[in-house]
Amino acid sequence: MKLIPLIIFLMFFLISSSAQILDQASNNGHNVFKLEKTEEPDVKRSEFPSGFLFGAASSAYQVEGAYLEDGKSLSNWDVFCHSVGCAENGVNGDVADDHYHLFMRDIELMHGLGLKSYRFSISWARILPRGKFGDVNAAGIMFYNKIIDNLILKGIEPFVTIFHNDFPQELEERHGWLNSEMQEEFVYYSEICFKYFGDRVKYWVTINEPNMFIECAYELGTFPPSRCSEPFGNCSEGNSDIEPLIAMHNMLLAHGKASKLYHETYQPTQGGLIGLVAHCYMFEPLTDNDLDIEAAQRAFAYNVAWVFDPSIFGHYPEEMRAYLGSKLPNFSFEEKKFMKNSIDFIGINHYSAIYVKDCTNSSCTATGNRAIQGFLDKVVQRNGVPIGEHTGLEYLFVVPNGMEKIVTLIKIRYNNKPMFITENGYSSPNVNEQRVNELVNDLKRVEFHTAYLASLANSIREGADVRGYFLWSLMDSYEWNAGYDLRFGLYYVDRKTLTRIPKLSATWYMNFLADNNVDEIDASRHKISIGKNII
Ligand code: BGC
Repeated sequence: MKLIPLIIFLMFFLISSSAQILDQASNNGHNVFKLEKTEEPDVKRSEFPSGFLFGAASSAYQVEGAYLEDGKSLSNWDVFCHSVGCAENGVNGDVADDHYHLFMRDIELMHGLGLKSYRFSISWARILPRGKFGDVNAAGIMFYNKIIDNLILKGIEPFVTIFHNDFPQELEERHGWLNSEMQEEFVYYSEICFKYFGDRVKYWVTINEPNMFIECAYELGTFPPSRCSEPFGNCSEGNSDIEPLIAMHNMLLAHGKASKLYHETYQPTQGGLIGLVAHCYMFEPLTDNDLDIEAAQRAFAYNVAWVFDPSIFGHYPEEMRAYLGSKLPNFSFEEKKFMKNSIDFIGINHYSAIYVKDCTNSSCTATGNRAIQGFLDKVVQRNGVPIGEHTGLEYLFVVPNGMEKIVTLIKIRYNNKPMFITENGYSSPNVNEQRVNELVNDLKRVEFHTAYLASLANSIREGADVRGYFLWSLMDSYEWNAGYDLRFGLYYVDRKTLTRIPKLSATWYMNFLADNNVDEIDASRHKISIGKNII
């Protein structure tokens, strides 16, 4: 019975908090909120092609919780968080958003928003707790079957990532990504996914952001297995100058082999598409000096093309070879054949832009002076002025035209191969100091997505073959080393009750997708869930 006062409080809170920037009116018995006019730019759903996949994204470790339920084994992140500690305040993903139990309600939320697609990842440890060394976990398969079936029932296209940072700890201990054995492990796991889910899943991503994962795990040591060396970080083991190249090579080959299998054995009957996702900053030269311009191009090669050149052209970028020489691995003749065109689409995770300064000719930081970094420094200010407005993450800024620029660069380099924006999102700054109602009234997030979508629409008008946009994220979730302090969601998640509360941005996205006038927001489609009840 204690729930009733809580429900009343939350309803009161939601309405009163919304009142700060929303003016409530009545329309046929539904609540209609007036959103204050935001500044230009504006954007409309109708500016995108009709079949365009608008969705939201998440990943298993960040939302599922249930870390040891129904036969799941411990993942690298479970062990990392429980041992050395993965984020401040000792928080971890043991419970996360409890999506494992609340997924049906979350699908309702997606449906209410009018999403056309949902991008989520599969927890390797949930369906193959011991990798190739053990059996398929039927309960894990059932869980993802239920998600896929219920999404489809609601008209929401499942867009599935096979690997998004988490995998069974047993495989980390037996091999890890420095070992080429991981390639076969990944192919084995991918085949289980194709076999069990491929009749209904038509969009596959083999690996999310290998560039970001490798940098954090093997260069900076901030992700498990925490390997690095000076001056990049202070780890007990590792070599930041070499290991990122080896681990990436294994990951790319794992991707290439899984793709080959899909293309040859599953795609002909299942008819889906397979792609790879990279973290894609827009790199801007710090000055208009030729050396900085070249350094910015090099930064693109060392980050974005490091992932896509091998999977489209079958070799590493020349810009990397020029500085890394034989430290950069080679693909054999056979490997080149299957690596080339191993993707049907390019997945772009784009959040921000950053300045680049050349280090071949001027003094830089200790890390900028290394070949593994491409002899360049990434900086966030020019003459003391930040590249854009701050967000909650110190290295992410609001730079909307970066979207059009990065899409155009990728379009040119890869001959306009189909692209999806697989992640784009805004985290509120200084969330710890903000009150909940300020977080729910997230006008900044609405402005962010409006501006980034307007920029994306420009690139499409200029001919870029972009086929979908996934907002990061459906709801606030576990943010890796930042724990729960960073909130990217359309839904606010109360950490105590796990209640999902629609933010202003949820209402905005729903209206945008319905191609309604953004002034008129129909709040009646939102359901507010309290613990296990829904009102
Ligand atoms: C990752 C997500 C992460 C997001 C925001 C992306 O690089 O794929 O897992 O939550 O950034 O930090």
